[in-house]
Amino acid sequence: MAGPPHSRESELIMKTRVFATAGILALLALAADAPFAAAGPVTLRIQADKPGPRINPAMWGIFFEDINLGADGGLYAELVKNRSFEFPERMMGWFKVSPTMAVGEAAVAERGPSGANRHYLRLRSEGTAPFGVSNEGFRGMGFRRGETYDFSAELRVASGSPRVSVELVGGDGSTLASGRLEGGSAEWKPLKLALVPNDTDAKSRLNVILEGAGTVEIDMVSLFPRKTWKDRPGGLRADMVQALADLHPGFLRFPGGCIVEGARLDVRYQWQKTLGPVEDRELLVNRWNYEFKHRPTPDYYQSFGLGFFEYFQMAEDIGAQPLPILGCGMACQFNSGELAPMDKLGPYIQEALDLIAFANDPVTTAWGAKRAQLGHPEPFNMKMLGIGNEQWGPQYIERFEAFQRVLKEKHPEIALVAAAGPSPQDERYHYLWPELVKRKADIVDEHCYANPIWFLSHADRYDGYDRKGPKVFFGEYAAQSDFIVSTKNRNNLETALAEAAFMTGLERNADVVHMASYAPLFAHVDGWQWTPDLIWVDNLRVLRTPNYYVQQLFSRNRGDVVLPVSSDAPVTEILPAGRIGLGTRKAAAEFKDVRVIRGGETLLAPSPAADASFRQPDAEASRSVPAGDAAWRDYTLTFKARKLGGAEGLVATVYDDGAGARAQWILGGWGNTRHAIETQYAQQGQLVAQTPGSLETGRWYDVKIALRGRRMECFLDGKLVQSAEVLPRQTRQVYASATRDEKTGDYILKVVNPGQEPAEVVVQLDGAARLSGSAQATVLTGEGNDVVNTFDQPARIAPATETVANVGPSFQRRLAPRSLTVLRIGSTAP
Ligand code: AHR
Repeated sequence: MAGPPHSRESELIMKTRVFATAGILALLALAADAPFAAAGPVTLRIQADKPGPRINPAMWGIFFEDINLGADGGLYAELVKNRSFEFPERMMGWFKVSPTMAVGEAAVAERGPSGANRHYLRLRSEGTAPFGVSNEGFRGMGFRRGETYDFSAELRVASGSPRVSVELVGGDGSTLASGRLEGGSAEWKPLKLALVPNDTDAKSRLNVILEGAGTVEIDMVSLFPRKTWKDRPGGLRADMVQALADLHPGFLRFPGGCIVEGARLDVRYQWQKTLGPVEDRELLVNRWNYEFKHRPTPDYYQSFGLGFFEYFQMAEDIGAQPLPILGCGMACQFNSGELAPMDKLGPYIQEALDLIAFANDPVTTAWGAKRAQLGHPEPFNMKMLGIGNEQWGPQYIERFEAFQRVLKEKHPEIALVAAAGPSPQDERYHYLWPELVKRKADIVDEHCYANPIWFLSHADRYDGYDRKGPKVFFGEYAAQSDFIVSTKNRNNLETALAEAAFMTGLERNADVVHMASYAPLFAHVDGWQWTPDLIWVDNLRVLRTPNYYVQQLFSRNRGDVVLPVSSDAPVTEILPAGRIGLGTRKAAAEFKDVRVIRGGETLLAPSPAADASFRQPDAEASRSVPAGDAAWRDYTLTFKARKLGGAEGLVATVYDDGAGARAQWILGGWGNTRHAIETQYAQQGQLVAQTPGSLETGRWYDVKIALRGRRMECFLDGKLVQSAEVLPRQTRQVYASATRDEKTGDYILKVVNPGQEPAEVVVQLDGAARLSGSAQATVLTGEGNDVVNTFDQPARIAPATETVANVGPSFQRRLAPRSLTVLRIGSTAP
């Protein structure tokens, strides 16, 4: 079998095999939601003398994207927003400071019709009172008392001889620092001023004020903390890069994410435009500027102060392999999906060739010389390159192939990362994988945003993957505590432990899974578009989430080889339960006689009010109205429905747990050509049955969905049309993986107890040589599933380390409820 298993059936078969080889068939608690029986301890048997596959040293890495103010307003330490007045709304971020009596004008002027930096600000004051402008920063500016901030600007005195002063102003209006800009003349000139605030304030701003009559023209108005990462002028926020360095990441994927693709091709990311003097880097709208209309970020633009040179440099600084991702002639398929025609792909492929040259060629070549000129004569030693971000469909395959043909011929040394779409198990994924196998892709990038139970249920996902196929890059993933992007979707302990449990499966399968990274990486508390995120920041602070600590514990305790570990931990299958919902996808419809029964009991009786609530009058809209109770199971839903118009069809939802898990019968979907059953975990859906079918507009249909356990039977006008099982969900009492650190000799065991009770485990180290007798245990745990770290309590969930004595080839340990434990078991053997 090439690539991933193609059906759930094969996954289940595989699972049985895995448990069977584990020696003792796990106690399979098939009863719904049965708690783990208080049986004896779980035995974890590690075959210490039978090392398995080697682990890619770059296994655990980071995914960076300029989303949630990740770069501008985040990592890139520039404090001034719209510093060169190039935002389409020229004065965005700026406002006039014009006290009573002040008479003046602040207007943006244009130098010429072309160039990256065409606009500048003309400030004219009649001198009756101080007059000027203020920049609001990125949701304010953060200043620290006693630290130095470097102001700079290009300036020209056009008339008169006004004094120009610069002020740092606190959120309460108090002056934190001020100074005069000396040396202005009739010629454009760079001027600088160092300012030291007398207080700390996260919500400050910057004023540029004229005193006396005259006109001053000003551009590239910039303010940086002097203390940046490695003290580089115009550099990166030191605390944010430090948080990345502390992860010990194996690779750095950049610059995204969807921003690579752009919403349209003309606004896609072009890496060559991000090099050289910052004033020459052409501003570009950020793809996240207009996404998520409920949280629009109209002031989100990319200045590219953090450009490709800086990405490579940062990767090197933090010991991570660079993994750039480039567009492949496809705009974001969640936006326009615009395609570059196949015969016009040349420039896109050339961008990839140029990038390899820029990163790796000697200084004697044009691109190598360019790199040297920017300050890095040594090659960056890039070994991997992503072609497209999260693309899908045959259009992607043909474009990937075109890139692959040229790149493999010219650069066989570069491993190419191919996309597997946005979901780890949907139609797009099942189409792409075999196509990529056929084309012998080196590495396939899978993405997954799903609720915790998905991660717990799929810890053995890679046990069944072909060992000889492309390697897997689990390139974007995060467990979701809620199924929509909102503050309810939190980085809590439950999500962190679900990821940890899943990561034990990645580690056990390190021969298949070569790399993995959580996404998104950063979010600004006042400027995000996506939740949850690994690291939260405000203008002064960095907050490490429980999920961050999970990544850190895996990365810093990676080990070099996998050790086989078997477990007799009990497994509980979670039977589905949940509400109903009626609605449409891009269609108008009405519903009546909606009834839910279980045995002889009526759970939901028909009523005119319910009929009215389900009605969907808008043929363009997609909407579903829920009803009932999250605990409902084994029920039968019946209703009458009539499509009133629209391109698509009806959607009946069952087993909606209100937290993202649900199953849907889609009638007349795909342009009114198919009926299908789709089951979902949070944002991940999988079609589990489909058949050709359509609905007649205006005709009443009788619909029935009967649920028994996981089985769902779907009837139209009394005829069984489809039947399928909703995705299985299960948890194990403990999840484990083991590795060995060849340098120290340590045996490393990672074990997750996601449950609410302590778990006893007996660890057996078969064939372990010369144990030192002690171990170091690092535990990440907390008081409840929903506990999060906050800026006020940043270490509610943080790893704590202790030394464990009397550790022999077999020892017992109690795992705290809701915990990840990393045991480093000392050994003096080589
Ligand atoms: O991580 C956030 C977004 O999720 C990425 O930009 C995209 O690749 C995925 O859809």
